[in-house]
Amino acid sequence: MDLSHRTHLRSFGLHWNSLACKCVFLVVIVLVFRAVCLHSFSGFGSSEDNFFAVKSRPLTSNSVSLTGKSKFLEVPQIIWGLNNQKIALARACLTARMLNRTLLMPSLSASLFYKEVDLLKPVSFDKIFQFEKFNSLCKGFVQLSRYSQLVNRTDLLELRKGSGRRWTADDDLHQLRRFSQHPFDEYEIIRIVGKNPFLWHDHWPVKDYAKVFECLVLGEDISREADKVVSKIREIGLKVNKDVGSPRTNGLDSMLQPVPYAAVHMRIEKDWMIHCKKLEQRLNISEICSSKDQIIQRVGNIEGLKTPIIIYLAVADDLLEDDSIMAGWKAGLLPFEKKKLGVLDLYKKHPYLIQSAIDYEVCLRSDVFVGNSFSTFSSLVVLDRTQKMINMGVKRPCGMIVRWPSYAYNLEGESKSPRPWATNMSKSSLQAISYGSNHISCS
Ligand SMILES: *[C@@H]1O[C@H](CO)[C@@H](O)[C@H](O)[C@H]1NC(C)=O
Ligand SMILES: *[C@@H]1O[C@H](CO)[C@@H](O)[C@H](O)[C@H]1NC(C)=O
Ligand SMILES: *[C@@H]1O[C@H](CO)[C@@H](O)[C@H](O)[C@H]1NC(C)=O
Ligand SMILES: *[C@@H]1O[C@H](CO)[C@@H](O)[C@H](O)[C@H]1NC(C)=O
Repeated sequence: MDLSHRTHLRSFGLHWNSLACKCVFLVVIVLVFRAVCLHSFSGFGSSEDNFFAVKSRPLTSNSVSLTGKSKFLEVPQIIWGLNNQKIALARACLTARMLNRTLLMPSLSASLFYKEVDLLKPVSFDKIFQFEKFNSLCKGFVQLSRYSQLVNRTDLLELRKGSGRRWTADDDLHQLRRFSQHPFDEYEIIRIVGKNPFLWHDHWPVKDYAKVFECLVLGEDISREADKVVSKIREIGLKVNKDVGSPRTNGLDSMLQPVPYAAVHMRIEKDWMIHCKKLEQRLNISEICSSKDQIIQRVGNIEGLKTPIIIYLAVADDLLEDDSIMAGWKAGLLPFEKKKLGVLDLYKKHPYLIQSAIDYEVCLRSDVFVGNSFSTFSSLVVLDRTQKMINMGVKRPCGMIVRWPSYAYNLEGESKSPRPWATNMSKSSLQAISYGSNHISCS
């Protein structure tokens, strides 16, 4: 099915929904259990598809030609943290797009070993993200293929990426352009050899990355794990709101609107502190490392945060034993991490990459997100939230008035609150947002 047709169908679906909601839904909702409501209204997950329908941005149509022999690109195994892997994956996709090739489904890495690359456990892309969904959402932009689609595995050309200081972005671009032309374009497979795609030069604007990220939909089993964590948070939120007799828990309103929560990606573990101090020195900036006390104080000063509210703390595992992160919060801000929520076992069943993906979802779906503008994890959460609001037609996705506000706690905003944060989608390179910055778009 082509994209415009699909979009049309979905818009029709939406239209029908809004009409139907008014008459039928109110009647039905009374009959449905609260648990069901909680589940289906629990944030982005369930309404994911609608975001695409609302927008219907035309896609530039080049990429794979439908006639003639298909051409493929193969990239090295993708490694490191979840967010570095997502950036590397997007970079591999955009490289394939540039070479007019389909990307052979790359291997990601389930575990996290920085030095011993041999120990990195490869995990197939489709064990983490939905393969068919990726291709349907990214149709006309970039496509993935399985190895079974190859006709002649020996019809292969190796492209060795240059490296080191002397290998400039221009050299890299020139090399890619050369390999998209005759005689190289004849080969069925171009295999890129050399370093991890995360370290490749960047040639693409932020909105191209955002497009690829939109096509990355978590596998259903992982997404369900995130649902469980989010439900747990909202359940506790509902209880504390009931206890104080908050109007939020009255009647229909509480059934239609799940109890809000905030998520704070609190980076204060030892490794990060060493890294951020070094970065502060190198960049001559003093606004990268925030202490626990500073984070707690600034979050407490966010204007318009309706209390009581559950604050989900996304923290490194070594901080789960540190009770001091639970102390010092302003009255009405109720901090919880995985251990206190009782979901530690749920996380521990999974390898590193999946644990990280669940935490990412919990932050993404939060009503208010607060992170560090020098963290790739925080930056990608904010990019995702910004993109979703733009798709809904929000022009300036900043501050408490928007549906999914985000803040950077390492930068001071008005009245000692964290600074409102949204991704600037007009930036010409991901560099501006992926390696951290103190120039954030809402400022
Ligand atoms: C990619 O394919 C399209 C259409 O087949 C063509 O117009 C375009 O020049 C190609 N791009 C490159 C870089 O080869
Ligand atoms: C596969 O590709 C190689 C290299 O281009 C070529 O020599 C060989 O004849 C091809 N085999 C088939 C079955 O097309
Ligand atoms: C660091 O920044 C401060 C103020 O922003 C400036 O006065 C100082 O000269 C800078 N130092 C270096 C080494 O650039
Ligand atoms: C976003 O980035 C563009 C390009 O760098 C710049 O012109 C614009 O002022 C930025 N917008 C905001 C709100 O920072």
